[in-house]
Amino acid sequence: MSSDSLAVPIQSTLAGGYFHPLLRSLQAERHLTKDMLMYPIFITDEPDAVVEIKSLPGQKRWGINKLHSFLAPLVAKGLRSVILFGVPLHMQKDSRGSPADDPSTPVILATQLIRREFPGVVVACDVCLCEYTDHGHCGELCDVSTLTEAEQAAQAKVIDNGKSVKRMREVALAYARAGAQIVAPSDMMDGRIGAIKQALVDNGFGNRCSVMSYSAKFASGMYGPFREAAGSVPNFGDRKCYQLPPNARGLARRAILRDVSEGADFLMVKPAMPYLDIMREARELAPSHPLACYQVSGEFAMLHAGANAGVYELKAMAFESVEGFLRAGCTLVLTYFTPDFLDWLDEDK
Ligand code: PBG
Ligand code: ZN
Repeated sequence: MSSDSLAVPIQSTLAGGYFHPLLRSLQAERHLTKDMLMYPIFITDEPDAVVEIKSLPGQKRWGINKLHSFLAPLVAKGLRSVILFGVPLHMQKDSRGSPADDPSTPVILATQLIRREFPGVVVACDVCLCEYTDHGHCGELCDVSTLTEAEQAAQAKVIDNGKSVKRMREVALAYARAGAQIVAPSDMMDGRIGAIKQALVDNGFGNRCSVMSYSAKFASGMYGPFREAAGSVPNFGDRKCYQLPPNARGLARRAILRDVSEGADFLMVKPAMPYLDIMREARELAPSHPLACYQVSGEFAMLHAGANAGVYELKAMAFESVEGFLRAGCTLVLTYFTPDFLDWLDEDK
């Protein structure tokens, strides 16, 4: 024992473990690598479009004819996977979201193109109806005339879960047929994972297409820029009756366990930054499943806004956010920062 009464006891001395950059790096259980990044991309039905999305700095809506020249440099830098969202601006939207699986829909054309021209890239397709319905909700609606005014106001019975699941199954199958290696239902209807998985197996895609469930998807305030980008703002009401309440740890646990039991290959938590505890829950409830998280549009916009306001440096903060996801247990990160990370991971930190 030192005679100096301020001396730190040896078992309390942590600084010896992280005084050097390499030692700090060795403290991580998992490091961000390029394979862990999945890039969300918006594809429109205007073939030559390259349109800035104001609220998502640097992100654009792409027409099918511009996709190759947009992706080629990213693939050269190590891009391994994308998730596609369709933005139909000219197709006729209707109550069942018919443009979702029309053979000419942008997501199907883009899937075929990417599989053909970039065979090393894994293509995931988001499966949902909100970009394709005239009402902007994620599923099909009940016949509202059968509802009382109070029920309509409460929205509790507005979504027809059964009809919606059947539709999700058709759309997922159409994307698998187009070559999607992952279908990712974000609609949040009950029972969709089992229905989609069964349809894939029944149609010969059991060993050719994964199901990535947006298992714990919360009704968040941070989807605004996405909805602007995708044109998927609901015409009335909100999504609180099919996306989880932000306070609902128990529902999130049940959703994760349910989707595992229905055959999900990948699980997801969304949004990411305010839900690190849910990622940890998912890791522990489903330790044998890869776990994704979605750093959503509002998080991306927020990180940019803070950096622009001089609150922090963008690159450092982007790394800090994603390192948090990995620490919480994620193995795949969906993020609009993917092109930046492909550069940053080649630089010295
Ligand atoms: C559509 C969908 C949304 C997002 C992904 N798929 C929006 C929503 O649920 O309203 C959000 C992604 C983002 O904000 O980046 N079901
Ligand atoms: Zn949706």
